[in-house]
Amino acid sequence: MTAVESSTKVVLGGTRGGPEAATLRQDRWWLQPVITVSVLTAFVIYSTWAAFQNRYYFVASPVHLVSPFYSPCLASTCTPGSKIGFAFSGWTLSPALLILIFPLGFRLTCYYYRRSYYRAFWWSPPACAVSDAHGAYSGETRFPLIMQNLHRYFFYAGLVFNVLLTYDAVDAFRQSGGGIAMTVGTLVLCVNATLLWLYSLSCHACRHLCGGGVKSFKAHPLRYRFWKFLTPLNVKHMNFAWASLVFVALTDVYVRLVASGALTDYKIF
Ligand code: FES
Repeated sequence: MTAVESSTKVVLGGTRGGPEAATLRQDRWWLQPVITVSVLTAFVIYSTWAAFQNRYYFVASPVHLVSPFYSPCLASTCTPGSKIGFAFSGWTLSPALLILIFPLGFRLTCYYYRRSYYRAFWWSPPACAVSDAHGAYSGETRFPLIMQNLHRYFFYAGLVFNVLLTYDAVDAFRQSGGGIAMTVGTLVLCVNATLLWLYSLSCHACRHLCGGGVKSFKAHPLRYRFWKFLTPLNVKHMNFAWASLVFVALTDVYVRLVASGALTDYKIF
């Protein structure tokens, strides 16, 4: 027997669409898809439930707290104090449903989440060097996946939401009876706004906006500065994606518990 005949044939990645030779990996490669499915499913179930609740999204005292799922509150039926200047008078459903499409579209089309849910939900492929569950691959060239190209526009919408949620966080320092105060809720809203900014600023579309399409940075010193600032954030985009997702839900939970009377919003000063 020659050396060639006795060697084991290794096919990295197995075969597309086949149950045979799914993978040669011995590690727990399935752990990451399982975690992704669990966290994303839990978030979708909770946020859908919270969006349809249409109550307990605003706290008036000791400071103003608005749930990020309901901000900006654009329906005339919004709890007094949670409204901004403009309101739709004919809207009778939950005001969260008016705005949900923008943060949802931003997350859904995010390059990082795309990779995660293609792997975890479609098994396309579930992990590196693991067989793809599908026999063919058309990429994102056809409807509906071609819509993923809307990401950069959702990014702009996301920036508007970040400004509004930052306003909410600053407003949460205003005591209902006048003066400045800080509660645990203020802190929660501040952390939430910070994480959402980090998530947006670390976005690939944002980095490309600042540094993409430039032949020489020498002619664009300002863009170069932005690009230099954003690049280390971009490296941590995955971390910011998960941290901001979990914390935005926790912020809603906190406001909901305080608004329903189940929890006291303790003053820090
Ligand atoms: S790539 Fe994730 S938000 Fe843009």
